[in-house]
Amino acid sequence: MALLGVNIDHVATLRQLRGTKYPDPLAAAALCELAGADSITVHLREDRRHIQDRDVEMLKKTLQTRLNLEMAVTEEMVEIACDLRPNSVCLVPEKRQEVTTEGGLDVISLFEPVKNAVLRLNEKGVQVSLFIDPDQKQIEASKKTGAQMVEIHTGSYCSHPEELHQILKSIEWAKSCDLICNAGHGLDYINIQPLAKHSDIHEFNIGHSIVSRAVLIGLDQAVRDMKALLL
Ligand code: PXP
Repeated sequence: MALLGVNIDHVATLRQLRGTKYPDPLAAAALCELAGADSITVHLREDRRHIQDRDVEMLKKTLQTRLNLEMAVTEEMVEIACDLRPNSVCLVPEKRQEVTTEGGLDVISLFEPVKNAVLRLNEKGVQVSLFIDPDQKQIEASKKTGAQMVEIHTGSYCSHPEELHQILKSIEWAKSCDLICNAGHGLDYINIQPLAKHSDIHEFNIGHSIVSRAVLIGLDQAVRDMKALLL
């Protein structure tokens, strides 16, 4: 059974919209864990549009499961992660203007900085995942950086379901490179179904659809519903 990592960025989005103290991502994380989430993911963006440094520090102190920190490959972020030592880091590309992470990390072009970041994080005991497009060359380059995991970007599959085969091939390629294979981006309660029971997906990282469902039916039930699809 694949694990479920819940991304709670958009709880913080709602808070930042009004500059209030609520809704509190820490409370959301605790509810997700009680409902069966296997890990909590937050993306500390360069522009701090949702998650703030304090959120990450507090989550590290209070989570009962695992903290997965999404971040860009920048000196500032690598320093923060080396100090904080989350359980894992997922390196993502980041553009200020984007609404959400648009494509995968180009590990081939950014090979040296990525490899360096992986090395520094691994030295601190932090496992590293690379968020990449479902592309064989990116998977092979990811392996060469020393990263332990890849997270296959499912965004293109979510908007073009006919691309499912590319995701399935990527899972095979990751396995043949001996990389732990995660998947995420754009997944919802419907489009996860063809992937939900794939034995070689270690963990799904899902945010927007769970938080959106939570607005209507509550976070506890929204996480339980997603977890049930993975059983
Ligand atoms: N994985 C990564 C690397 C992401 O950047 C995001 C979006 O922050 C997600 C998973 C979750 O995507 P969504 O919010 O569409 O479920």
